[in-house]
Amino acid sequence: MNNAVPLPQNTPEALKNLFQLDSGIIFLNHGSFGATPKPIFEVFHNWQRKLESEPVAFLGREIGSYLAEARSHVAEYVHTNADDIVFIPNTTYGINCIAHALQLHSGDEVLATDHEYGACERAWRFHGAQQEIVYKKQPIPLPVVSADDFIDAFWAGVTSKTKVIFISQITSPTALIFPVREVCQKARKAGIITVVDGAHVPGQTALNITEMDPDFYAGNFHKWLCAPKGSAFLYARKDMQPLLNPLVVSWGWQSDSPGVSQFQDYFGWAGTDDPSAYLSAPAAIQFQQEYDWESVRRRCRITLQEIRANLHELLQTAPIAPDSEVWWQQMAAVPLPERAPQDLQQQLFQRYHIEVPVFKWNNQRFIRVSVQGYNSPEDGAALLNALKQILASA
Ligand SMILES: Cc1ncc(COP(=O)(O)O)c(C=O)c1O
Repeated sequence: MNNAVPLPQNTPEALKNLFQLDSGIIFLNHGSFGATPKPIFEVFHNWQRKLESEPVAFLGREIGSYLAEARSHVAEYVHTNADDIVFIPNTTYGINCIAHALQLHSGDEVLATDHEYGACERAWRFHGAQQEIVYKKQPIPLPVVSADDFIDAFWAGVTSKTKVIFISQITSPTALIFPVREVCQKARKAGIITVVDGAHVPGQTALNITEMDPDFYAGNFHKWLCAPKGSAFLYARKDMQPLLNPLVVSWGWQSDSPGVSQFQDYFGWAGTDDPSAYLSAPAAIQFQQEYDWESVRRRCRITLQEIRANLHELLQTAPIAPDSEVWWQQMAAVPLPERAPQDLQQQLFQRYHIEVPVFKWNNQRFIRVSVQGYNSPEDGAALLNALKQILASA
């Protein structure tokens, strides 16, 4: 007799039933805001119900131990120490905390790639303007070819004034995985602070913060890990933690009862809020383990590989990266031809009920396709058919 517990079904059809997405929409945009399956959502609601059953016990007495427990799970998942990370609502918040706190001087440079996410660029420009620092966008030309070429192109922007490097591990408009580990290593040797934007990383590709060794890292649990919205983390290397100020000053500043560190005190409580999304992150990790997400990710990659190749054939545009897991996993950006209508995204949604974003980057438009566990090759075929019809009538 075989007593092995059967794995829960993780086919696209089975997973589609677990996610809560509108069945009338072909959803190829997991990348923008993620999506949360029912079992994780149920855990989230259980936390909210527990909070409401005794708000004073929950928020006044027990919250610290709940958060510490959740932090230890997520820290293990991203391979770092629980005391070196704090929960934050989103990556934008984390980048703001860093840009606001780093004490730079007039003329100091923050070197970034020209593929960074607009909101985070704005955070640097806003906080940087107050300190008269220069936010410098270093061109990373497309197509990317090799990590060595990438490093050469990026490092050409380093000067004696470069104090900080800001870089996405997975970019938003171009959906590329950048070799941030190599960048962090080189920067450490050069004495430059590294700030990594990992908004798309947890749940999409393996993250080992200890190996990467950045100075700061902010990442979302609510995108590819499928945690409820408002669940993210900020990592700060031990020697960098004293540099961080809270964006919101609360009880942790000049605390009457200091905890393990100033970092934990500053970020542990920012006023009354609902921490249920943070507390549900461990359930999201568990969900992906139970459903063998390694194999789901592999399948998504294969599905996307086919969609991407078909899109290139149809659109007759050149790939922006080699067909390699080094450069992209569950998201891919494909350049659009000039003849694609300006309202392509709206047409795809309104006429074909396909949710997929079109981004403009450096004067080139891209269609960015995300493939998550609930997507099947048929979703890609629907996108392709819709594009054929739209282009034929353009
Ligand atoms: C590369 C990158 N960084 C940061 C963000 C911001 O994430 P959030 O809105 O959760 O702060 C995004 C969102 O899509 C992103 O793509």
